[in-house]
Amino acid sequence: MFQDRVLSGMRPTGAMHLGHYHGALKNWVRLQNEHPCLFFAADWHALTSHYEDPSVIEETVWDMFIDWLASGIDPSRATLFVQSRVPQHAELTLLMSFFTPLSWLERVPTYKDSVERHAEHGRDLTTYGFLGYPLMQAADILIYRATGVPVGEDQVSHVELTREIARRFNHLFGREKGFEQKAEAAVKKMGPKKAKLYRELRARFQEKGDEEALEQARELVGDVQNLALGDKERLFGFIEGGGRMILSEPEALLTATPKLLGLDGQKMSKSYGNAILLRDTPDVVTGKVRKMPTDPARVRRTDPGTPEKCPVWNLHLVYSGEDTRDWVRQGCTSAGIGCLECKQPVIDAVNAELKPIRERAAAYEEDPTQVRSIIQDGCEKASDLADETMRDVREAMGLDYS
Ligand code: TRP
Ligand code: SF4
Repeated sequence: MFQDRVLSGMRPTGAMHLGHYHGALKNWVRLQNEHPCLFFAADWHALTSHYEDPSVIEETVWDMFIDWLASGIDPSRATLFVQSRVPQHAELTLLMSFFTPLSWLERVPTYKDSVERHAEHGRDLTTYGFLGYPLMQAADILIYRATGVPVGEDQVSHVELTREIARRFNHLFGREKGFEQKAEAAVKKMGPKKAKLYRELRARFQEKGDEEALEQARELVGDVQNLALGDKERLFGFIEGGGRMILSEPEALLTATPKLLGLDGQKMSKSYGNAILLRDTPDVVTGKVRKMPTDPARVRRTDPGTPEKCPVWNLHLVYSGEDTRDWVRQGCTSAGIGCLECKQPVIDAVNAELKPIRERAAAYEEDPTQVRSIIQDGCEKASDLADETMRDVREAMGLDYS
């Protein structure tokens, strides 16, 4: 309904690994060719868990951007920026905190879990900032009026919360004096044909609850040129009755990628020591895969095994074609192949995948000022977009007095 725009972020808390590549970056690269995209380093979000040792943020943030660029993120297509360099995010977080019920945050499924999990590792996350983590994420998304947010399964509840906050904001602050008259005037500005269609669709939605008419009406409004943003918001809001639609509700974009697990079969994470990093050398990759545990049933070379019980199999599912997988299944269950033999195609595939990434990363490493300037540009662009929304938000909340 608002202009198509995709946004996502990552916390700079460690080196990028294959889990990030398969779980997010490959998808971002695809999305940048289909939508206007914004990708950012969520350094404030990193602080919520790393406030005691924040040095990891500055140690990893530039390498994170290098790994994004090396993975194929194209700065001429996507806007890359740092969250804390666009402090408008903080203002929106604060303003939204006034009307966000505490219970909404306490009920986010990731909240209690993470507090407990981190406590086991000696991190105290019973802080104000950590409770507000998803609210700050909502601000990240809403400040750009993002329509799509590519995230993993674990973040869907945060996008859901973002939608609820947008709805609450519009409900509380989209009701201006004389809304009906202003909206009627905006309808006329669409021109007679579109105005007629708009009224028909609106009636179909309001009288019969026709969702398709709602969608069509939103598209119609989205496509009209030369209407002031305020009028567009009124037209969006008027379809459903309420008031202006100042903040737009984003969709979570879930990708059906096969889960890339770590060397030990657990979730891949640098802190678990089970990750293949995007800049590991071929020798390191070879060594890591060779050391991977396999199906414990294969004690001797002559003992047959079951691929489904082996973390190497997870990698074959991501990297190998049907032929190789048949060869593994057959060879493993009959003890026809040894585990090192079985690992070789994975080693070759990972190294082939990482070769161009390593090369591009090396070029960026040699030219750090280029990376700095890409991000500087991105921060300025992001800041301009954020300002557009913040002007509307301040006005709607009655903060634009002089
Ligand atoms: N919470 C996300 C993560 O854990 C990072 C993030 C912060 C984010 N703000 C965002 C993702 C906005 C998508 C949109 O990785
Ligand atoms: Fe794992 Fe391959 Fe060994 Fe089977 S042969 S246990 S799939 S490494």
